[in-house]
Amino acid sequence: MTPTSHAQNWHDPPRGLVLARDEVHVWRIALDPPGHIVERLASFLSADEQARAARFLALIHRTRFQVARGTLRAILGRYLGREPGRIEFAYGEHGKPFLPGIDLRFNMAHSKDVALLGVSDGRELGIDIEAVRPLEDAERIVARFFSAREQADFFRVIPAERQEAFFRGWVRKEAYIKAIGMGLALPLADFDVTLAPGEPPRLLHVANQPDAPARWTFGELDPGAGFQGAIAVEGGGWRLCGFAARGLWNEGLGHRTEVSASRRTGVSPE
Ligand SMILES: CC(C)(COP(=O)(O)OP(=O)(O)OC[C@H]1O[C@@H](n2cnc3c(N)ncnc32)[C@H](O)[C@@H]1OP(=O)(O)O)[C@@H](O)C(=O)NCCC(=O)NCCS
Repeated sequence: MTPTSHAQNWHDPPRGLVLARDEVHVWRIALDPPGHIVERLASFLSADEQARAARFLALIHRTRFQVARGTLRAILGRYLGREPGRIEFAYGEHGKPFLPGIDLRFNMAHSKDVALLGVSDGRELGIDIEAVRPLEDAERIVARFFSAREQADFFRVIPAERQEAFFRGWVRKEAYIKAIGMGLALPLADFDVTLAPGEPPRLLHVANQPDAPARWTFGELDPGAGFQGAIAVEGGGWRLCGFAARGLWNEGLGHRTEVSASRRTGVSPE
């Protein structure tokens, strides 16, 4: 498999956004934009998404959900040449959203005021972001949920570096369970990822699936100070492009006819 990719530069998206088959685009989305942007993004949501938004008790969580979903729709709309409000999602058995009948794959994660969205042409993927924070019980969580091999790797890390190692391992594990769509329905101890300092992100072993480590490659994501991120992508030979969603807001939201990704991805614009 090819070496892993690393994204830490978040560029404004180009006007003619093209998603090549050997690219994976990761979008960094700041979830606390100005009010007029929130209003516009919220207007893209479907009735079931609006109902979900209304169930958040805290305004900040409702707003961030609206921004994440609205931006997801705006970005997918750009690739597909479709109005954000006309994107239709279906959901896998464990809740993974996807676009039925369309090759474009995506996955989203959020933590605090930042979300990440990974998009590819036909490669299944999973993404995760976590705010790195002091965890009094990291050792206990590792002992309970990480695999035996991960536990051994973790406890070899010097205590001063364990917080980073914990979140490094955590985002890699979440990226994998989200890539395969199972979420926490897959026992976290059933597979091993790397987590030691300096070790590239990799899937080492999956119980009863000897070919899995060769099927998935990982990218390390740098969402900004205080966060860790990872992406797991089907196959190898791809490269990461990092975009800032604020670039999209700056130039206006929604449908753009010159977008050519749909042609490159074999997806027909409406
Ligand atoms: C998927 C899961 C790991 C997400 O973890 P999290 O840290 O809470 O949330 P993240 O920010 O990383 O990701 C959330 C996003 O992942 C996506 N997502 C949801 N379910 C997913 C799944 N099974 N696989 C991949 N992605 C999923 C959605 O886009 C979601 O965004 P939304 O909440 O705005 O709709 C977790 O919610 C989970 O395991 N859910 C499935 C639960 C399940 O299997 N239940 C079975 C009961 S029998």
